[in-house]
Amino acid sequence: MKLKYLSHSAFQITTEEGLRILIDPFLDGNPNSPVKSDEVFADFIILTHAHGDHLGDAKKIARAYNSQIISVNELGIILEHQGFNTHKMHIGGSHEFPFGKVKFTIAHHGSFTDEMQYAGEPAGVLLFIEDKIIYHTGDTGLFLDMKLIGEINKINYMLLPIGDNFTMGIDDAVRAVEFVNPEVAIPMHYNTFPIIAADPYEFQNRIEQIGKKCRVLDFGEEISIN
Ligand code: NI
Ligand code: MN
Repeated sequence: MKLKYLSHSAFQITTEEGLRILIDPFLDGNPNSPVKSDEVFADFIILTHAHGDHLGDAKKIARAYNSQIISVNELGIILEHQGFNTHKMHIGGSHEFPFGKVKFTIAHHGSFTDEMQYAGEPAGVLLFIEDKIIYHTGDTGLFLDMKLIGEINKINYMLLPIGDNFTMGIDDAVRAVEFVNPEVAIPMHYNTFPIIAADPYEFQNRIEQIGKKCRVLDFGEEISIN
């Protein structure tokens, strides 16, 4: 599969079979996004929570392509009432989709919509695609259960926030990588706005100091995962 970083917490996955999955597609209002919402396509859109910088352009994209939106139940109900094609899940539950399996995990954060409507619990997601496991933590603070997530699942790629203020900063993110013990850590949720300014290369150095691998992706960079 291919994994493309669209900046902030937005990623695009393209499977061997050509299925396209977007995670937290915040593009048009995102100063770092290399693409606009009318330049992407999605069969599936996975949302970690309802904040504007994660829900992003999900509705525009889903409306254009009838993409199925995968989220926790309450956010799914809101979107369903707005006419979207949804698949509702909840934390701890997993489901097989045509592209692979999705399992929702806890995240310590909030999840009201920008209209201040409660949209359920914020989440992280484990993606089991083509024999690889990707853990997108969503927006979260550090939590000890990450150890359990890493024990149960041999994580290949961990995508985690380092921008501080709303999520973990670099110190806690390094600890999170120790807890989860992924093959490769990829930083996200930084430098989109001044309030979340962080140096991903400082994070990379810190990860390498603990003997782990970190890959800083440029905005728009795509890597192959085999
Ligand atoms: Ni958030
Ligand atoms: Mn966020």
